[in-house]
Amino acid sequence: MNANSGDATVTIRGYQPPDLEACRGLWAELTEWHRSIYQSPSLGGPDPGRHFDRHLERVGPRHLWVAEVGGQVVGLAGLIVEEEEAELEPLIVSPANRGRGIGRRLVQAVFEAARAKGMGQISVRPVARNDRAIRYFHSLGFDVLGRVEMFTDLAPPERQIWKPGEQLAGRGFRV
Ligand SMILES: CC(C)(COP(=O)(O)OP(=O)(O)OC[C@H]1O[C@@H](n2cnc3c(N)ncnc32)[C@H](O)[C@@H]1OP(=O)(O)O)[C@@H](O)C(=O)NCCC(=O)NCCS
Repeated sequence: MNANSGDATVTIRGYQPPDLEACRGLWAELTEWHRSIYQSPSLGGPDPGRHFDRHLERVGPRHLWVAEVGGQVVGLAGLIVEEEEAELEPLIVSPANRGRGIGRRLVQAVFEAARAKGMGQISVRPVARNDRAIRYFHSLGFDVLGRVEMFTDLAPPERQIWKPGEQLAGRGFRV
């Protein structure tokens, strides 16, 4: 799958073993983004890229896609299929390559794979504070709210990172 996006050709293709380091790097960038929105530098532990290895082990290489520009892997998307449920996870495009339609094309590849597997729907579970990603996914058609995950933080208030931000069912929630 090739297309010209801006000045360089973007290729969306399946994950291959030589992509390992690049994908670890993209996962680390996703963690960087979460660290910045939560202002929590230790989020994701000391080696966040290793979470990619666990994900790879969980879903297998056939459920991961990368975006390549000029021979460099700049984006990563994955599909989790468990019983009747399909989930888009992760979705990451390196900061220098955002806003060029690469994320959209990765999501399309995941949709196609989910359809080919006969899945009737696909979910995505961004953290509630990632309002930018929520708007983004909404624009790609994720406009149905399914289950909502609510929790109570058992840590003392001074160690909690949540801030007021969302309304649902007439109640205020910290995100
Ligand atoms: C969410 C993300 C994958 C989108 O990737 P992308 O390649 O920038 O997406 P696209 O180019 O397909 O679309 C970008 C949209 O955001 C807007 N945008 C423009 N510049 C942007 C930028 N620098 N960063 C993010 N979005 C930008 C564009 O207007 C576009 O909207 P449109 O489709 O209505 O025109 C990417 O921003 C990212 O990796 N974010 C951090 C990780 C993250 O939050 N992932 C989701 C967690 S579940």
